[in-house]
Amino acid sequence: MDYKSRIETLRRELHEHNYNYYVLNQPTISDYEFDMMMRELQDLEAEHPEMADPNSPSQRVGSDLNQQFRQVAHKYPMLSLANTYNESEVADFYRRVKEGLEGEPFEIVAEMKYDGLSISLTYIDGRLTQAVTRGDGEKGDDVTANVRTIRSIPLQLKPGSGYPHEFEIRGEILMPWTSFEQLNRERELREEPLFANPRNAASGTLKSQKSELVASRRLDAYLYYLLLPEGATTDSQPAQMDLFADSQPAQMDLFADSQPAPLTVESHYEGLQMARGWGFKISEGMKKCTTLQEIIDFIHYWDTERKNLPVATDGIVLKVNSLRQQRHLGFTAKSPRWAIAYKFKAERACTRLNEVTYQVGRTGAITPVANMDPVQLAGTTVRRASLHNADIIRQLDLHLGDMVYVEKGGEIIPKVVGVDLAQRKPDAQPIEFIKTCPECGAPLVRYEGEAAHYCPNDTGCPPQIKGKIEHFISRKAMNIDSLGPETVDDFYQRHLINNIADLYELTVMQVSGGNKNRTVSATKAVEAIKASVNVPFERVVYAIGIRFVGETTAKLLARRFKSMDNLANATREELMDVEGVGDVIAQSVIDYFSNATNRDILSRLRDYGLTMQISDEQLAGQTDRLAGQSVVISGVFQQHSRDEYKALIEQHGGKNVGSISAKTSFVLAGENMGPAKLEKAQKLGIKIMNEAEFLQIIND
Ligand code: IVH
Repeated sequence: MDYKSRIETLRRELHEHNYNYYVLNQPTISDYEFDMMMRELQDLEAEHPEMADPNSPSQRVGSDLNQQFRQVAHKYPMLSLANTYNESEVADFYRRVKEGLEGEPFEIVAEMKYDGLSISLTYIDGRLTQAVTRGDGEKGDDVTANVRTIRSIPLQLKPGSGYPHEFEIRGEILMPWTSFEQLNRERELREEPLFANPRNAASGTLKSQKSELVASRRLDAYLYYLLLPEGATTDSQPAQMDLFADSQPAQMDLFADSQPAPLTVESHYEGLQMARGWGFKISEGMKKCTTLQEIIDFIHYWDTERKNLPVATDGIVLKVNSLRQQRHLGFTAKSPRWAIAYKFKAERACTRLNEVTYQVGRTGAITPVANMDPVQLAGTTVRRASLHNADIIRQLDLHLGDMVYVEKGGEIIPKVVGVDLAQRKPDAQPIEFIKTCPECGAPLVRYEGEAAHYCPNDTGCPPQIKGKIEHFISRKAMNIDSLGPETVDDFYQRHLINNIADLYELTVMQVSGGNKNRTVSATKAVEAIKASVNVPFERVVYAIGIRFVGETTAKLLARRFKSMDNLANATREELMDVEGVGDVIAQSVIDYFSNATNRDILSRLRDYGLTMQISDEQLAGQTDRLAGQSVVISGVFQQHSRDEYKALIEQHGGKNVGSISAKTSFVLAGENMGPAKLEKAQKLGIKIMNEAEFLQIIND
């Protein structure tokens, strides 16, 4: 492949992984793989400067901004660290520091690299005043209310311990392994998607709108970077706020709150020891090293010992200890020259592949699973690993009986990453992806642009039948909470139900099976099913399980077409006119209604009394006052929540869009509208409307 297409491919893929990681909180590759791709891109871009692009993924360090929190600019940018992956790269760092300091003796502090999310805390007069996430490094989300619930973060520093009048301290918020495992167990019971790792769980928790929930999740925090305004005790501000060395506080004087005399912090290590005295949680595993060998020994020791730590770590951070020397070495555009991260290798084991089996999901998607000889990996016995799809099997060139490498990176589910070809038997048979469904025998299909194979027999394949019913009864659909996956399976096994309509014909006698002890629960179940006929139309549209029609799309379809009949008769063009509906969803809706089995089920559901059109109340409130208008919502509101405003815009025929463009009709702005949005709106001359003006328009 020529370098141009390689650069383009890398950019496209990295954009997507960035989105999976930062927006969806669901990474699909390991950090290591991501870093390797990013490195390759950076190298290629350096070699071919004519390919420079301000929008390249290499030009940003990622963003975790969440619109619902107030955004706050960091006083000093939150930089990241350059990564190294092997000892020779650590040696290179050591040599660069040595050269940079021109032979002067120096110490390197080695410490754990915590794998959570970074936070910047501000303390004034010993009290926590602000907690801000990293965001894009320049500005982050104000999550103070949530952070206040984390018990290891002091709200008030120890009186008389000598803390400075005002300072910032940075560290990592983590979810300990025990809390993480408990949380996932609970989510499994509630059939909610599991968090892939403690970092995602911690990040999802911290972004929650409810600090109550945050408190219940038992987060923890370690602090590792103390910042103090240079030579000041009060409101002094650094001269400028950019990425250059002088704007980063280095050596600083501070006055203790109770002692009049100034204190001088000269080193990172000393600063953190003092911070521990003020009440912060500082890692015990910090070491001052004076030789490269000591650093390497520290890395080796913690590579195994970290498995006994209560929280996730993914490497070691090395920092030049002296603040004066740090200042001398300075920063590159993205990271300090005085520090580096060494990333641990994902744990890997080698074992025999005995069989590939296939699971059929509720949508009919087929997942190949590697069944292997049991092997110890990162503290658990691994027997099975996901192989994702046919392409992955082909890329790995898997053969039956192969010795395969399995890895457990930041993720909990292990994966097969390679094959030891030297150990392959000459007569080994390549793995052939199945052609028919292992559950029902239907020939598999592959949709254009999708990696997965599907079983198309959605009305006759057991896991799909059960999956559809489970979806139908779920909380956001018909919310029939006295049924669950076990009852669905039980009813299905007993031939009581074969589709969602059958639920409404169940009798207490059938459900209890004539067992008197079960009469009460059976009655409850049957009544709950009956009661569900009152669920509003939009949730019925979601519940019937049209492929690719999620909760939001269902809502938009319900509002636009107003009844099941209209929706069933909608043309492709009419469907595609709905926000978020493209080719694929439109086709899926059409396919759904042209299937005779589905039509039969719908007609039965109608007979049982399910809501098949939008209610009169909903209809009554609808106007076309905002017809054809694209509205961007920004900031914090007093009268209604953001979601309520979104609903109001749609109720009045308008469209809520995420970002400002020339096509935007107006911006509905609350307090603290994001500065970037404000600037863009002003530049494009787009009207900015406040809550009162907006409400007047729709209520007039
Ligand atoms: S120091 C200017 N120390 O790793 C350097 N960072 O890419 C400030 N991290 O965003 C960071 N453990 O979230 C530092 N002991 C440690 C750390 C640590 C984890 C995270 C931090 C940062 C990222 C570096």
